Order: sequence, then structure tokens, then C-alpha cells
Amino acid sequence: MNITTNKIRQDFLNFFKEKKHMILPSSSLVPYNDSTLLFTNAGMNQFKEIFLGEKKIDYSRVATVQRCLRTGGKHNDLENVGYTSRHHTFFEMLGNFSFNDYFKKEAIEYAWELLTSKKWFNIPKHKLWISVYKEDDETYKIWKDIIKIPVKQIIKIGDNNNIQYNSDNFWQMGDSGPCGPCTEIFYDYENNIVNNPESFLENKNHRFVEIWNIVFIEFNRISKKKIVPLKHKSIDTGMGLERIAAILQNVFSNYNIDIFQQLKQHISQLSKVKDLNHTSLQVIADHIRSCTYIIADNITPSNEHRGYVLKRIIRRALRHCHKIGMKKQLFYKLVSTVIEVMGDSGKILKQKQKKIEEILKLEEIQFSYTLEKGLKILQHEIKKAHNNMLSGETAFYLYDTFGFPIDLTADICREKNIQIDLNAYELEKSKQKKQSNINQKFYKNYNNITINNTCVFEGYKKNKTKSLVKYIFINNQSVSIIKKNEYGIIFLDKTPFYPESGGQIGDIGELYNKKCYFLVENTKKYGNAIGHFGKLISGKIEIKKYINTKINQVNRNSIQLNHSATHLLHAVLRHILGEHVYQKGSLVTNKHLRFDFSYQTPIEISQIQDIEHMINMYIRHNILIKTQILSLEEAKKQKAIALFDNQYSSIVRVVSIKNISIELCGGTHTKRTGDIGLFKIISYSSIASGIKRIEAVTGQKAIDYLHQKDNYITDLSLILQCNNSDIKDKITNLKNKIKNIEDKIIQLQQKENTYYITKLLKNTYDIKGIKLLIHVFNQYEHKLLRIITDTLKQKLKKTITVLVNIINNRFTVIIGVTKNLLDHITAIQIMKMIVEKTHTKGGGKKEIAEGGGIYTEKLSIVLKNIPLWIDEQLDKK
Ligand code: SER
Repeated sequence: MNITTNKIRQDFLNFFKEKKHMILPSSSLVPYNDSTLLFTNAGMNQFKEIFLGEKKIDYSRVATVQRCLRTGGKHNDLENVGYTSRHHTFFEMLGNFSFNDYFKKEAIEYAWELLTSKKWFNIPKHKLWISVYKEDDETYKIWKDIIKIPVKQIIKIGDNNNIQYNSDNFWQMGDSGPCGPCTEIFYDYENNIVNNPESFLENKNHRFVEIWNIVFIEFNRISKKKIVPLKHKSIDTGMGLERIAAILQNVFSNYNIDIFQQLKQHISQLSKVKDLNHTSLQVIADHIRSCTYIIADNITPSNEHRGYVLKRIIRRALRHCHKIGMKKQLFYKLVSTVIEVMGDSGKILKQKQKKIEEILKLEEIQFSYTLEKGLKILQHEIKKAHNNMLSGETAFYLYDTFGFPIDLTADICREKNIQIDLNAYELEKSKQKKQSNINQKFYKNYNNITINNTCVFEGYKKNKTKSLVKYIFINNQSVSIIKKNEYGIIFLDKTPFYPESGGQIGDIGELYNKKCYFLVENTKKYGNAIGHFGKLISGKIEIKKYINTKINQVNRNSIQLNHSATHLLHAVLRHILGEHVYQKGSLVTNKHLRFDFSYQTPIEISQIQDIEHMINMYIRHNILIKTQILSLEEAKKQKAIALFDNQYSSIVRVVSIKNISIELCGGTHTKRTGDIGLFKIISYSSIASGIKRIEAVTGQKAIDYLHQKDNYITDLSLILQCNNSDIKDKITNLKNKIKNIEDKIIQLQQKENTYYITKLLKNTYDIKGIKLLIHVFNQYEHKLLRIITDTLKQKLKKTITVLVNIINNRFTVIIGVTKNLLDHITAIQIMKMIVEKTHTKGGGKKEIAEGGGIYTEKLSIVLKNIPLWIDEQLDKK
């Protein structure tokens, strides 16, 4: 191998350093300055405001190596990744930029020198082809006359579908932002030279590979339809590092450059696949890079926005891991290789390595539960697919029930040459809301079941059982069978599913055997019976038959952390606030805990911190959590806390954490307090007189919560361009600045008002001894019109003022009438006439009335006629 990717990256920077460029670091994958952009997708993003002339920096020539992500938004490569030689979700873009400094000629000369000179990349000139925007003659001439490219190798590219600027050679960042015509340099991968443009156009993107894009930033796109020229012209160039590395390392596919070779070798060691060109290896190698960098930039997997993009990429990768036999949490192990192969670019990952690995591992644990199930269903449905089309219903079902992002399903279908009915999928998605309402009703309807069954709860020790189906209920009716797609409740002789009680939510999980699959969405108690709520996904379930049960252990673990933390919270509240704290209610879910208690005085922030401090101390002490079955008498002797409003049987279960907390409790708990990991209060409030509420999170959720806060602060510091510790000072300064500016504005406006008032006083009509002032303002502050009206009314006697303000084709009008005229005419009377004649809205009182509308022409006619109209009104009196 001639040259490593890491050296190419460095050579690029060295070259532009020699050309007097300032080398700046890559910005984050999360654009700090642009809410229209999901992820940084080009080197120019961080300079957007500079191109637009909204911000200045001290350098007019800059070069960067920018980490980029192209999934979602205008540039979306996710579905191609793994199937082509050159598409990536994550890639590095080498770029040089000129801000109102050099323009077309130098930008082209620099690129040409770096690519072809012996001292640098030394690519044979005849291998390079050029495309230019059809109308850009200047650029065409530079290539032809100065660089001396044969004309047959310069291709002019026009607009698609005759839409201006809708061209491969007109670069735009997104639906808005800086943009302009561009010229691209292509590399010809074949040896037999064909000097004809048709052959180029046919083979573009395969034999001819775009390596460098030089954009002449001359415009700003304001909206889809509007584009305006910029005052200053700038240069934005971008060269994909992986592509240029492939050329210089003499390989056709980006996935065969040194970085990817090493990554693929590691994946191959962890899997059953030895062929390094296997698609799954490529997908995984690409995705582990993007996941690592996205998490390093403080995004965590979630169900929305950037977090969902990350989740989609992870899940797509995990599916490929599953396919090649990497079934047991191995994906995260690749993080260390990413850090190693990325050289200088990987340095920023090092300190976050542990966090990245933990997040990936957790996501894998959570997804593995549904991945296998979902895959089985999908494989089954693919076999049944008509006309090579998977139903939207199935795709939605996989998304909704098994957490299969649509592109994961599409990826699997693509391997089998199957398409997804995407319209139907969207339709299903929109039905989801309705369906969830129906589900809610379904749960409500089942409150009145009476059933004579006793179910043994085995869930303290086991997470699965083989159980006998005793009863099935559908729509309040006891039935003997439940079929596919039906909702119902299953009652068993024994179960590991914890039924909702004592504040702890019910378990979720599955009931299944070889032929059927029932998804349990909730579990509730009915006397001594336990009902498993849910939907039958496949097959049928009959009473008097055996079925396997299995709870969702990941979900249960999260619930348990919150339950044990609730006990600690209860004990610590009593310790810090006093023994009189009395539990009023509690909710323990897989996401958080909520605890309501009686307490009269407001709780101080320092007390909240003391509470957190103490609980976390107990967590660190990693104390054993013990459960005992005792007689009620014995439990009372041990001073166990009980909710004395409740009825307890004579035998009770006591959960104790040393002598810190001893409570009667039927819920499920962690083994030791250390399992809780971290306890963080997220809100505290007063919900009724003398009743307070605390909400808290634990474990990974608590860490996520703190990360969110960190990210928020980092975002703030990026917006404010200061260190985290300076944010407060910066905001105080800004507030002072705003206050000063506002004061100045008021002073200026007062001056302006005085000017208008003097001017208005000169332009008055005299109608039967009454003064009438009419004036039309343009783009004025409406608030000020009111002030002017009031001032005029104070200064003058017997006056009517009609002040109009036109803002962007709309008008507002304000009428003032002095007190001593109210017997003759009122403001509301005048307003009513205007409303009628101009079809506007308005109202007010006798002395002052306001209105506004869009028919400015009608209004100007009314204004002309107003003196006459007032004259007539006065005559009527
Ligand atoms: N912004 C251009 C691109 O992304 C050049 O950097 O291709």
C-alpha cells in the first residue's frame, strides 16, 4: 500500500497550510448553528453564517477535515450503504474554503496541483474528467484554457426537468442556505481511454468517480422557491477522504482502503464470515464508525430526531451482526478498532470510549429481545408475499411491536428482491393513534371481570414458566380459544408476570409455543387470579393447554431499580424531613418513579440535594436487599413501615435494606442497592395542600438524564461561543446589552414620535370646529401608534385621530376621539364603519378603537371619504 489514509488526511492539510490556509478543527456532527439540519453533512456547514456575511472570522482562507453524516435530510445515503462501493453514512470531508478571498481560478488551480503534482498526489492527468454547470462559461474556460484539459473531458451539466439550479452541478446544502454552481473532478477507474462525453454520462458514479467538488458560493437559498445573490463570493470545496484514499491506494471500493480492511478483519474474527467483501461486513464497518462518532457527539438512541437516526443505524447494524453469527453483544467491541484506525481523527473518541461502548451494548441487549422474533415473522411473511410486495401492515407491525425501523425491514426485503408497500405502511402509522385509543378502552372495559381462579406468582425467583391456560377473556366474555390478531386476557395456573400492584406497574413479555405467539402488554390482578393482557400475533391459544411464559427481563430490571430506589427515598425522606412524612401514593415504572407524601412546609433545593446525596451513598454501599415472609406481628415488631390504610393478611412479605428501610411490600426488587447505579431527582412539586411529589430516575435513565443536561449546556456554550463555566457571565452581559439597546430604541422612538406628532399637527382637517388627523405609517411599531394617539388626545381638544399602519400588505388602524366629542361621535362608531367597508375586524370603546385587515385598497378609499362621512354624522346629531 503506497500511502495510508491517515497520511492523505495530513498531506491535504499540509498542502493548504503552504497555501496560507488556517487549519481549523472539525465541528461536531450536531450542527450548533442550524436547526434546519439534522446532522453536519458537509465541511461548509460550520461556516454557513460566514458565507452569508452574517458573521466574520479572522481568516479568509481555511482548511478542515470535517466529520459528516449523510442519513436523513437532503443528502441521505443510508439505504445504499453496504450495496455500493462508495456510499457511507459517516465519512470525512477534506475541504478548503475562501471567504471573499480567492475565487474560481485559484480554487481550481489548487485542486489540480494537489491532485496531479509529483510532490503531492501525483494522479495521471488523463485519468481526470471535469463537469461544470452548463451556464458557467468562466469555469469552463479556466479548465480549457488555463489548466488545458481536452474539451472532450469537460462535460457541461444542465438543470434536471428544466428547473433552474436543479442540477448535479449546482450545490445546495439543504432547502435553505448558501449555495452555488459547482465544478466536479472525476477519476476514471478504467485504463482504456474513451474520450467521449456520452460514455462519461453513462458510466458516471461507477467507472467515473467524483472525487472533488468545488462550489462557487454566490447565492443564498431563502426558501424552496427563492434564491438571492450574496454580496461576497466564496469558495467551498469538498473531497471525500475515503474516495481519494481508494484511488491513491489503488483499490476500486472505498471499503477496501486500509481503514476498512482493518475494521472488516476484526468483524470477520468475531463472526462466521471469512469473505472480507461480504456486504454485511461493509455495513457493519460503516455503521460502527457512524455510531461511534454520533455517540461521541453526545447523541443517545431514542425514538425521535437525531436519537432515532442513531437507533436506526445501530439496529440496521445489529441485524447484519445477527445475520453473520455475531449474536452475542459483540458490535460494541468494534469501537476500540474504530479509535485505532481513525488515527488523528479518532483522538476525540478516546476519552468517550467507555460511554460509547456502554450505550451500544445496552441498545443491543434491548433490541436482541425483539430482533429474533421480528426476523422470524418477517421471513415468514416474505415467503407469503404476493408480487414481490411486503404488505404495509406487516412493515408497520414490525416497527410498532418489534422496534424494526422501516429501513431495517427494507434492507432485509431488498436482499430477497421484495419491495414494501410504503403507502400502506404510512396509512397504518397514521391509524396508530386511533388504535392506541381503542387499546385504552379495551383496558378500561376489563375492569369488571369476575373470575374464580388462583394463580401462583413465581416471578420473585423465575422469569419463565410452563403454565396451564385456565381462562381466556375476550370482550368481557369467557371463551375457550383466542385467534390471531385478537386482543384478550389469558389466565394461567402460575406465572412469572408481576401484576400491577403496590404502585409497581405490571410486567410485559410473551406467551408462546412452537405454533403461537402472544405479546403481553400488561399484567393485572383479579382477586387471586392474574390476567395477562395483550394481542395474539400468530397461531391460537386454547384453554386447558400448556404454554411457555417469559417476561421481558430488561424491562423488569428497570422497574426493580426504581422500586428499590423508592424504598430508599421513603426512608431518606423520613430521615431528612422527619418521621411524620407519610406515603400518600407511589408509582414505579420502567422509566421512572413517582412518590407522593404528606409534608406541610416547602422543600428547599438543599434538602433535595441532601436526599439525593444520602440515597446515592446507600447505593454505593451496595447493601443487600433482603426479603422475608413474617407474621404481621413479627413485622410490626421489626418496625416495618406499612401503609396502615391497607388491609394486610396475617402473613406478610417484608423487604429490608439493613435497618435503613424495612417495609411491607409485595413488589420485586434488585439484589443489592448498588444495582440501582445512580439516583437522580428530576422534579419536585406540591400537588395538593400538604402533599408533595418527587419524581426520580435511576440507572441508565439517570445517566441519560445527566447527559441530556450536559448536551444542553454544551449547546448553549456553542451558541454563546464560550466555555461552559462562562455561560452565566455571557448571558448577564447579553441581558445588559439588550437592556441598553432597548433603552436606546425607546429614546429614538420617542424622538420619532415627537417628529410625527409635530408633522401630524400640521396636517389636520377642520370639520365644523373639530380637528381630524389622518396619517398612514409604513412598517411602524403598532404599540407606538397607541402612544401617539394618547399623546395627541392629551394635547388637543375636540379631535379625532385616525392612524393607520401598513405592514407587509396588512394594515392596522387605531381611532382616537377626545372626551368632549363623545356626545357627537365615538371611536367605535368610526371603527364600525371601517369594518363594514373594508371587511376587517375591529372593536374598542367610545374613546379608542382598533382594527386590522388585508384590504388596503378598500381602506384607502375609506380614508379619502372619512372627512365627508364625519361631516354627515355630525349633521345627524
Ligand atoms: N459542499 C460541497 C459538498 O458537500 C463541497 O464541499 O459536496
